[in-house]
Amino acid sequence: MNTSETQQRERIRTEIHASADAACRGLATEVAALIRERAAQGRMVVLGLATGSTPVRLYRELIRLHREEGLSFKNVVTFNLDEYHGLTREHPESYWRFMHEQLFDHIDMPAGNINVPDGTVPRAEVFARCFAYEEKIRAAGGLDLQILGIGRTGHIGFNEPGSGRDSRTRLVTLDALTRRDAARDFLGEANVPRHAITMGVGTILDAHQIVLLAWGEAKARVVAQAVEGDPVDSLPASFLQGHRDVRFMVDAAASSELTRVKHPWLVGPAEWTPALARRAVTWLSGEVKRPVLKLLDEHYGEHGMADLLTEQGPAYNLNIRIFNEVQHTITGWPGGKPNADDTYRPERASPHPKRVVVFSPEPSDEMLGMGGTLSRLVEQGHIVTVVYLTSGNLAVPDEEAVIAADLVLDFANGSADAAPAKKVRDALAAKQGDPRASDTPDTRRLKGLLRRGEARAALRLAGVPAAAERFLDLPFYENGRYRQFRAGPADITAVAALLDELKPHQIFATGEGQDPSGIGAVCFEVLRAALASHAATAWRADCRVWLYRTPDKSWAAHEIDMAVPLSPAQLARKVQVVYQHKSQRSQTPASGSGLHEAWQQAEAAARDLADTYDALGLAEYEAIEAFCRWNG
Ligand code: F6R
Repeated sequence: MNTSETQQRERIRTEIHASADAACRGLATEVAALIRERAAQGRMVVLGLATGSTPVRLYRELIRLHREEGLSFKNVVTFNLDEYHGLTREHPESYWRFMHEQLFDHIDMPAGNINVPDGTVPRAEVFARCFAYEEKIRAAGGLDLQILGIGRTGHIGFNEPGSGRDSRTRLVTLDALTRRDAARDFLGEANVPRHAITMGVGTILDAHQIVLLAWGEAKARVVAQAVEGDPVDSLPASFLQGHRDVRFMVDAAASSELTRVKHPWLVGPAEWTPALARRAVTWLSGEVKRPVLKLLDEHYGEHGMADLLTEQGPAYNLNIRIFNEVQHTITGWPGGKPNADDTYRPERASPHPKRVVVFSPEPSDEMLGMGGTLSRLVEQGHIVTVVYLTSGNLAVPDEEAVIAADLVLDFANGSADAAPAKKVRDALAAKQGDPRASDTPDTRRLKGLLRRGEARAALRLAGVPAAAERFLDLPFYENGRYRQFRAGPADITAVAALLDELKPHQIFATGEGQDPSGIGAVCFEVLRAALASHAATAWRADCRVWLYRTPDKSWAAHEIDMAVPLSPAQLARKVQVVYQHKSQRSQTPASGSGLHEAWQQAEAAARDLADTYDALGLAEYEAIEAFCRWNG
């Protein structure tokens, strides 16, 4: 089944694609071929479909094939995997609505061929209706092809951990993590339904062919477990291993925890590039819990790395080399140290000062990922511009907007100036009882301004001059909603124009490798395209791009090209800076343990990185912010 020895641990055929778009183009071509083949035979095709961000690109490509290449869906019948229980079809987050907006409204599939579980079925009738759903699939001849995404809990459909291999279509309770992941779509976790109706694992396994899609690093761990681990109830996607025609299609980020990618030396002879050697040695240090300089030949031998020693050993030499490499990533001068020998420094000494642009997808990202470094860049005399790519207004709770609107109303005290605030206040009042209803453009504007104010407060505290801020409010965000963002030429032009104006020597950015439909990744794609449009310019040739990460996913030691240590005081300031983003704090006091708040997560991530360096045997710092050089 597997095509190379490096895939020997993989129990499900897994294809790694250059990008989600590339994978979806390939799959859409296959689907189109199946539809056409059946149409030529006068037969129907039965597709099992998923919702969520994962399949959106596939649906866009199918729509394109319909519009541009005449693909007809008249002979297609579809069954969707699941639906939230308690939502009407009209609800903005219902899967029925999602499927119509993302696919059905744009193709020529007869409405009668569409099947989505009904979320409004009264509890007492659920069982019978689920049974009927299964019967209908059977009567249609079974699912020819089932498309799946995968949740971070390992769910397929809404088969959460604990779902058995034989489970059928039924009502389920959603996992806490699944509800948290949906919180943004529903504008708050409290609004996320607790139950859903889903096809069972057994129902899915009855499909003739199954293709599971996964994009972005957040899916990497669960993909690796499903593909390489034992089939277990605690990870329902692992039951796909038993199917005779199943395939995973993933992008590079989602493949990053597979053994062949993460630890290729464990599944065959590796080509020991300097990068792989560094990855292997830092990993080995973690495995045997010893600093790099204390690794012994036998440690290498016992961990499948004997050939690395043969090529580049003995351990003593290799240890010193890797130790020095990691040591050289550490710098207190993120913009380069003026007049210093920069042979082994991550950033060049001149020019000094540098023109530095820090891109923040949503206000606060820049502080979460690199608040301490940002302060340093300013203190060290660089000309820093912080560019807020989106307004972030979708993440502002109504309660905050009400306070702001009331303030303006009271301040205007009945004068004409009060009119816009009154409109927002009325719109918010009309929304009451339905927090999921969309905001008016005025409300979104007010919410965006609120975040602007917070961003400015954070910049002030971080010591960044007011003139350094730029708010782009990119249109893809203003006109979009979660999971459905799509950048266009206007976004790219705005960023390209700004780059042309600023001509930076150094750029800091984030979002690479994230879920491609998330705000961070969309912003990164906009930046990538904007940079590409300047590929031939002199400033671009002299500009280095550094990637930072927000606390949800830190860099591994081997990925780091620049590590900026923070003192206890600098870390304390960073925490305070993040704290300025008041609208982003939890709306309810957290109960239990765990890092609920963004500033807590930012602090923990920076401390963890320092611990990682400490464990490798490097100097012991309070905290570290880390960066990877991007050569794209
Ligand atoms: C949706 C579904 C779910 C999703 C999964 C991943 O119909 O069945 O299993 O596929 O939750 O969601 P996204 O794609 O949003 O990451």
